[in-house]
Amino acid sequence: MKLMIPDHIRAISPYVPGKPLEELEREYGIRNSIKLASNENPLGPSPRALEAIGKGLSSLHRYPDGAGHDLIQKIARVNDVAPENVVIGNGSDDIIAMLVQAFVRPGNRVIVPLPSFLMYDIAATAAGAVVDRVPLDGLGLDLTAMAERVTADTRLIFVCNPNNPTGTVVTRAAFENFMARLPDHVVVVVDEAYIEFAKNPDCLKTGSPADLTRPLVTLRTFSKAYGLAGLRVGYGIMPAELAGLLHRVRLPFNVNALAQAAAAAALDDRDFLERSVRLVHDGLESLYTAMDCMEQVYFKSESNFFLIDVNQPADEVFEKMLRQGVIVRSMRAYGYPNYIRINVGLEEENRRFVRALETVLQS
Ligand SMILES: Cc1ncc(COP(=O)(O)O)c(C=O)c1O
Repeated sequence: MKLMIPDHIRAISPYVPGKPLEELEREYGIRNSIKLASNENPLGPSPRALEAIGKGLSSLHRYPDGAGHDLIQKIARVNDVAPENVVIGNGSDDIIAMLVQAFVRPGNRVIVPLPSFLMYDIAATAAGAVVDRVPLDGLGLDLTAMAERVTADTRLIFVCNPNNPTGTVVTRAAFENFMARLPDHVVVVVDEAYIEFAKNPDCLKTGSPADLTRPLVTLRTFSKAYGLAGLRVGYGIMPAELAGLLHRVRLPFNVNALAQAAAAAALDDRDFLERSVRLVHDGLESLYTAMDCMEQVYFKSESNFFLIDVNQPADEVFEKMLRQGVIVRSMRAYGYPNYIRINVGLEEENRRFVRALETVLQS
């Protein structure tokens, strides 16, 4: 084929997701394996969401509500903003793509932390942007260095809070200093995919009515604390002017009918949310204790995952863990060739992970 593919598209390394359980079981002939690789909710979906899905099944011959009316109303109410300030997406990934499509043209610049969630870089590169990757300061975002990288061509800055994969948070004070240094033409995107798990009282949380007076977009997802990763629903909170621009590039039925119904029901399920967050906090404590007992180097996190320094190639540890029926994530693609990332699982899954890691590291 003699296709004229743009160089910037050829240059992209495709996103590699956590290995699916089915794939592991197929390839290795293993039963009862566990996955702690994609920061999912080990409790499963909220029961209320499942009930809403059941009710929605008989209407699947209809298109979804393209305006997402009911879900948007509910998100707006829960966050104390107006429906005009909310855009829903097929996962928050979809909103990241829309933001880049709406605000960035080839040659413009996008600032991202490094390492952080890989989709910021991929979406910006796909749009032909120049990506300014700003290394972390230790494991935390270096907001000072990020502000210093702004030029007249900068269109977007991504702030991941808590940061994936390091689990660190940005404080409110540091963020306000950062915002004060930015010129008016830059849109700041604060990705709060894991915000429900953050415990630090000084942690930044955006999306308040006051934030709607500045070029700031808050991203949230139903994939983590709400347990709906497979349905793909996320949302953004932003000034109505910015939301209007995203609606210009949004696909007409970007969030399917079952996802809309389930997400709206999950927002009402406070009990499930509390159980999910408690499970993560308790699980982190017991995993930290286990790592201490093994004298294993690890990094405490404000999220539902944390990094472990395995002091040897992470890709090899990943492979050996697969043979134990445990899927973890190698952090090589994130620039940490000796680190793995795991998310908190159910108690029994956490114990199984610890046993498997002991076996692998002693082998
Ligand atoms: C920081 C961050 N943002 C966004 C996402 C994407 O979430 P969604 O499932 O809503 O597309 C992820 C998924 O892992 C993530 O880690």
